[in-house]
Formats: sequence, C-alpha cells, structure tokens
Amino acid sequence: MTGWLPERPIVQAPMAGGGATPELVAAVGEAGGLGFLGAGYLTAARMLADVEAVRALSARPFGVNLFLPATDPVDPAEVDAYRTRLLPDAARLGAEPGVPRARDDDFDAKVETLLAGPPPAVVSFTFGRPGADVVRAFRAAGSAVVMTVTSVEEASACPDADALCVQGVEAGGHQGTFANVAPPGLGVRELLAAVRAVTAQPLLAAGGLGTRAHVADVLALGAVAAQAGTAFLRSPESGASAVHKAALGDPRYTSTTLTRAFSGRYGRGLTNRFALRHSAAAPAAYPDVHYLTSPLRRAAAARGDADGVNLWAGTSWRTAAPIPAADVVRALTP
Ligand SMILES: Cc1cc2nc3c(=O)[nH]c(=O)nc-3n(C[C@H](O)[C@H](O)[C@H](O)COP(=O)(O)O)c2cc1C
Repeated sequence: MTGWLPERPIVQAPMAGGGATPELVAAVGEAGGLGFLGAGYLTAARMLADVEAVRALSARPFGVNLFLPATDPVDPAEVDAYRTRLLPDAARLGAEPGVPRARDDDFDAKVETLLAGPPPAVVSFTFGRPGADVVRAFRAAGSAVVMTVTSVEEASACPDADALCVQGVEAGGHQGTFANVAPPGLGVRELLAAVRAVTAQPLLAAGGLGTRAHVADVLALGAVAAQAGTAFLRSPESGASAVHKAALGDPRYTSTTLTRAFSGRYGRGLTNRFALRHSAAAPAAYPDVHYLTSPLRRAAAARGDADGVNLWAGTSWRTAAPIPAADVVRALTP
C-alpha cells in the first residue's frame, strides 16, 4: 500500500512536545509533502483535537505518530538520585522537579480514538512495534502503518508494516530504539543500505537530512521519501519554543549531543549547559526523567534560558532556516 506517499518525496517528521502543530502539518501537505502530527505526550482527547484541526485546515493526507508504552524496567533509586541532582538547577529557576507519571503514554486510548474516527492516511509508531491486532485494525480502517527502526534487527521484526522509517543516528530528537538502550549508532545512509538489503518494504529515511543533496542521497539508496524534522523547526508554522528556534540559529552552539539527560532516553539536541552538566549521570528511565525535568525545562524556556531546555536538533541543524514550511518542502525536493 503506497497510495499515501506524497507527490514530493518529503515527509515532515512527527515532533511531539509541540513542534508539529496542525498548521505545520497542513502547510506541508498543501506543499505536496506529507505532514505528521506527533501524538506523544498528549492525551487522546488533545490528539483528536489536533487531528480535527488539521482536517479543518487541509484536505490533504497526513500522518499521526504514536509512542509505544514504555516497558523497560526502571530503578527508582536512580530516578531519586537524579531528582536530587537536579535540585540546585530547580532552585535557581524557582521550580521543582516533576513527579513521574504513567508510562503508557495513553497508547490504548489513542489507538481507540484514531480507529473510531476517519482514518489518518498514515499511522506511525516509535519506541517499539505495535501488536499484530493493532496493525491489522489500522490497515483494515484504511491507514498505512509505518514503524520506526534504528537497526536491521528491528527492521526484521516488522514484516507486517506497510513501510519502515529508517532512523539514523544523525536524527534530532529521540532515537526510536525498541528498548531504552544506547542506539546502534548507524548513520542513515549505512542503515538504509543495510535495511534495503533485507526487505522490499517501502523505506522512509530519517536523520540529518537538511539539504536537497541529502535527500537525493537517500533516494538513490532506495528510500521512497526523506523524513525531516529539524529542517522544519524554525518555520513560522512550527510550534517549537522561541528559545529553541533562536538557539538553532545561534552561532554559540557548535555541536549536538546524544543524551539521556532530558528524558531518560537517548535524544539528540544542541550541546548546551544542561546536557553538559547532566548527561553522564542521567539514568535509563523513560519517561520518568522526562517528567522530572519537565517543570525545569518549562521554567527555563519562560526565562529565555536556552541552556536549560532540550534543544532537539539533528546533525544538519545549521541548514534549518526560518522560512515557511512550504519553502522547506520545496528546498528539500531534489
Ligand atoms: C523536536 C523533535 C521532536 C521529535 N519528535 C518525534 C516524535 O514525536 N515521534 C517520532 O517518531 N520522531 C520524533 N522525532 C524524530 C523524527 O521523527 C526524525 O527521526 C528526525 O527529526 C530526523 O532527523 P532530523 O531532525 O535531523 O531531520 C523528533 C525530532 C525532533 C527534532
């Protein structure tokens, strides 16, 4: 099933945390790409409101991305120690570390909600593969099912997906590894070639794709489209915070870091003070650490302090420009 593929081989990555607004998704669709809502962290009701908002703005196909529930064991003592470590940062910001909440991301309710309404053209999954019943239900409803993979092993575990999103280590935001482990670290080109060799499924390529030449590279390696996130973050339609948008254009930042410091899972962002200070101590505890740091990140963003915020960014962040999303789609199209 490939009828959902956009005219232009450009997929705007789902970006949970507010980046992928309905306005961004609609603008990308209108420009001939495929926009994606990121439903991670949202309640099912809020996800539905976003889905309806996209439909009110555009009749173009779009996707919705869901996080699989977190099932990795977590050591509460490690989470507690990390909380204590964050107290001086919290005090400086006039905030308190948050309390870990549910680890299932409201997954079942989101699945049920999406299946109850008109089907999105595409539903993609990250942090694991959904059960066969969920896959069958979405396919029967008319949604194409995409699964995010970071290794050949993960790709081989998804024979029932309509397509795979092959995510290289260059990617901004979280690595979609099935388990909360250090990512295999393969670059998108290497991983794409390796996955292409083991499956005929359509492949989306993601990770550090910030120019037309990058997109041409992955198409030549057998991808049907490029999935780009960071390239859209500075657009006016993006919901990234003002500090995040500004930091992406700030020459003070000179590298990216893959770190568990913000959420307890590996994600790539601009190397800032928070990442430098806490990466080595951050436990493998997702989304527990996400909840701990959330009030601190919010307080830092409100003060315009980019050094206290997760500045998610892929390795090609310097090519991200403050231009309308439609222009990003056109600029990336080979
Ligand atoms: C701010 C941000 C948020 C992201 N959130 C999600 C998400 O909710 N779901 C998901 O599957 N991928 C998410 N990603 C990863 C993207 O799907 C994609 O792999 C990545 O953006 C590709 O690398 P690039 O940012 O260099 O283009 C996010 C990426 C960024 C930059």
